[in-house]
Amino acid sequence: MIYKQCLRPILFLKDPEEAHEQTLSFLSRIGFLASVLEPLFSVSDSRLHVKIGPLSFANPVGLAGGFDKNGKAIRSWPAFGFGFVEIGAVTAQGQPGNPKPRLIRLPKDQALINRLGFNNEGAEAVRARLDSIRDSGAWPRIPLGINIGRTKAVETKDAAADYLFTFERLYPFGDFFTLNVSSPNTPNLRELQEKNLLKELLQAIQAKNRELAQKLGPGAKPIFVKVDPDMSFQQLDEVIDVLESQQVTGVIATNATAFLREKLTVGANEPGGLSGKPLRERATSVIRHIYQATKGRLPIIGVGGIFTAEDAYEKIKAGASAVQILTGFVYEGPCAVKRINQGLLRLMERDGFKNISEAVGADARA
Ligand SMILES: Cc1cc2nc3c(=O)[nH]c(=O)nc-3n(C[C@H](O)[C@H](O)[C@H](O)COP(=O)(O)O)c2cc1C
Repeated sequence: MIYKQCLRPILFLKDPEEAHEQTLSFLSRIGFLASVLEPLFSVSDSRLHVKIGPLSFANPVGLAGGFDKNGKAIRSWPAFGFGFVEIGAVTAQGQPGNPKPRLIRLPKDQALINRLGFNNEGAEAVRARLDSIRDSGAWPRIPLGINIGRTKAVETKDAAADYLFTFERLYPFGDFFTLNVSSPNTPNLRELQEKNLLKELLQAIQAKNRELAQKLGPGAKPIFVKVDPDMSFQQLDEVIDVLESQQVTGVIATNATAFLREKLTVGANEPGGLSGKPLRERATSVIRHIYQATKGRLPIIGVGGIFTAEDAYEKIKAGASAVQILTGFVYEGPCAVKRINQGLLRLMERDGFKNISEAVGADARA
């Protein structure tokens, strides 16, 4: 309430990217307060526990990739009740991203359009930051995912080496890694979802994963691939085949859409990735398709247009084992995760599910 009535109106007067940077900078400075804030904003209940491969989340709601690209605020994220957090996208080389303005708020449609273009400090700088946070003894207790993107200047044929560089540099810090081959804002990035290119990329990453696991232990890191919501289900089936054959831990569905502009009242001509409410339905149908095509074998992290517990529950019942939010966090504020988790408990009770895993795929099973 306080956020929506007091803080959000002030933040929304500012340029969206400026507001975002100021929020992040504030959050990076209040990390030391995380343990004080956490009891206010989090819900602790064993029915919310989620396991995906070797990963264990205290609740199924995570922060999606793109909000904290450089890992500046990792100490603060547990304070808002997240069960896990994903930083990045990080690219091998630091890069400025696209010209501004490149982040547009569409409050009428509860949406954002971003064409940031992987602005980030690069793998070495992020590694140095994570290293110093770890050295300070203030490492967060929730699982940390690292989203890896392709450097803009690198061509598709050299993409695997570019991803490998970032993966290797950041390997000790990630509890899981997400290969982002689906941002609409890096030219030709989505080509990497083509089956042969995706297979090549995953083979290279998994080989490096095994090599580093032997050297550094204890086991190989969970790898996720993040897909776009714009491909046909036939293309998606090809992607799924590759993901299963390369033994990824799971899939993150979905990234922002390059299309769906017909759902907007304003801003339909703005290029970039559309996220938030207008993406919700499409992302859910992609999740349902993956769940059905794999008979629930491939764990899914569902993302796209989640604002409320009902939205999260829809994705879980369509087949997602966990969810992530970004645009919903911008619009709903610091209580968003708590409200979603409280609501999930209420909805599970109503429907007679004893825990999250019982609800996963409940609407997608024939
Ligand atoms: C400002 C902004 C930046 C984003 N940056 C990334 C990114 O770097 N890597 C990524 O995988 N997804 C990125 N995304 C996509 C989100 O992680 C998410 O998949 C998408 O926004 C849909 O979820 P939402 O409707 O909850 O925002 C970004 C989205 C926004 C709005």
